[in-house]
Amino acid sequence: MSTRGSPDSIAGNIAQWTLTNAQHTAGGAESQWDRRDITWGVFGVREDAIGSPLGDVSDLDVVELGCGTAYFSARLALRGARPVGVDPTPAQLATALDMQRRTGIVFPLVEAPAELVPLPEASFDLAFSEYGASLWADPQLWVPEAARLLRPGGRLVFLTNSVLAFLCSPDVGMVGETLQRPQFGMYRIHWPDELGTEFHPAHGDWIRLLKANGFDIDDLIELQAPPAAQTHAFYDYVSADWARKWPAEEIWVARKQT
Ligand SMILES: C[S@@+](CC[C@H](N)C(=O)[O-])C[C@H]1O[C@@H](n2cnc3c(N)ncnc32)[C@H](O)[C@@H]1O
Repeated sequence: MSTRGSPDSIAGNIAQWTLTNAQHTAGGAESQWDRRDITWGVFGVREDAIGSPLGDVSDLDVVELGCGTAYFSARLALRGARPVGVDPTPAQLATALDMQRRTGIVFPLVEAPAELVPLPEASFDLAFSEYGASLWADPQLWVPEAARLLRPGGRLVFLTNSVLAFLCSPDVGMVGETLQRPQFGMYRIHWPDELGTEFHPAHGDWIRLLKANGFDIDDLIELQAPPAAQTHAFYDYVSADWARKWPAEEIWVARKQT
């Protein structure tokens, strides 16, 4: 893997998510916080259909890296976890705080990028990201931070776009059925007309990076859209039909060595 990633992406990603908050996430947070069930990805794959990658979270110290409006952490809090939400975008955290006030589900929120988290080492049992750090932070910096934050034996679980969907993504438009870009050299991308930078390591890069930071890899779950799933109204970069045939999203499950 090259060393192309660097925190020069952070300001652009905060700008991107300030805009997305105004366009979509602030308004949608209430319906997300209203729900208790955990589903995965834009097509809502039920957790029991994929072996519940988070497992039993009761009584665990959990850090969500790139928590956004923090609905995922709220659902874990309802299951008995003690989450801490970390996100660099003030607008997203303001929505999370507003939802905490409205619902009474309260946990700490920390304004920081996942590349540099102002929390003590070895203080969490589970680090996770649902399209937060996993897509928007530099993996060469946030994976070592996750390793630092976890206790020995702690788990790292993250959801992001699949490598295949990225390779089949044109610069503009939906994921198609032909390769659109090389795999060799993939790591970060600035899509035209977007303010932010996404990070897309290939599978070999993820494996080497996780192992280099003291993780064992337990699973790589490639999500399949359920039969009744429809293309998402907002995250419409990939159709439900495509995602029924090929994995559009993937969950990595790793464990910090003891
Ligand atoms: C798709 S949202 C996460 C959704 C989240 N699971 C939720 O419950 O709302 C992506 C989040 O990543 C955050 N983000 C952007 N750059 C980041 C970085 N360097 N480190 C951590 N999070 C980042 C954004 O601010 C945004 O809130």
